[in-house]
Amino acid sequence: MTVPVITVDGPSGSGKGTVSRAIARQLGWRMLDSGALYRLTALAAEDAGLDPDTDRQAIAALAARLQVEFLSDENNNEIIELNGRDVTQRVRAESTGDMASRCAVIPEVRASLVDLQHAFRRVPGLVADGRDMGTVIFPDAPLKIFLTASVAERTERRFKQLGELGISANIDRIYSEIAARDERDRTRSESPLVPAADAVELDSTGKPVQQVIAEVMDLVDQHGLKETA
Ligand code: DC
Repeated sequence: MTVPVITVDGPSGSGKGTVSRAIARQLGWRMLDSGALYRLTALAAEDAGLDPDTDRQAIAALAARLQVEFLSDENNNEIIELNGRDVTQRVRAESTGDMASRCAVIPEVRASLVDLQHAFRRVPGLVADGRDMGTVIFPDAPLKIFLTASVAERTERRFKQLGELGISANIDRIYSEIAARDERDRTRSESPLVPAADAVELDSTGKPVQQVIAEVMDLVDQHGLKETA
C-alpha cells in the first residue's frame, strides 16, 4: 500500500506551517517541514563560511550530509538540532530564511535534499509543507493544497510569530523581505513556487487559522483520507 501524503505548498507566512501541523496532529500522521531543511542547509553553509553565489557544490555536499533531528520539549515546543546542536532559534530567524531562499535556487542543493524528504513518507501518512511538495517531491499525493494570503497579511503574521519567539524585527523590513523572497522563489528555474496542476488553491487572507484548518479537513474527508488515519 502506498503511504498517503497531503502536500501543503505556498509562500512564507501563508499559514501553511500552522495548518500542516494541525492537520498532521488531527490525523495522527507525520509532518515534513521542508523549509526547515533549506534553513538548516543555510545554517550549515553559514557556519562553514560558504557563499550561495560561489560555493554551490560545497553547499550541496553539506545538504547531502545534514544530520537533523526534529524533537519536542516537555511543553510540546519544537526543538531542532543540527549535527547535535540545538539551533531552534537560529532556524526561525529572518536572516536564515533569506539565506535559505538563496541556497534553495541551487539545483544541486535541491537534488541533495530529495532522499531526505522522501524518507519522511512513512505509515500511517505524511503532511508535507513547502514550495514544491505537490509539484516535484510528492507528485502522486492524493491531496494537494496551495495556500496563499496577501503580502500585507503575511507580513503581520510573520511579525507576530517572531515576537512570540522572542525575536525582534522591523515590520517594513519584513514586508520587503517577504516580497523579495516570493519573487526569488517564484521565478527560480528549478522547482519554482507554483501550484501543481491538480492542487486546490485556498486564500487564507482575512480568515482565522481555525477556519482554514476546517476547510482543509473537509477536503481531507472528501478525498477519503480520514479513514486511513
Ligand atoms: O517555508 P520557509 O520560510 O521555512 O522556507 C525557507 C526558504 O526555503 C524559502 O524561501 C524557499 C525555500 N524552500 C524551497 O525552496 N522549497 C521548499 N520545499 C521549502 C522551502
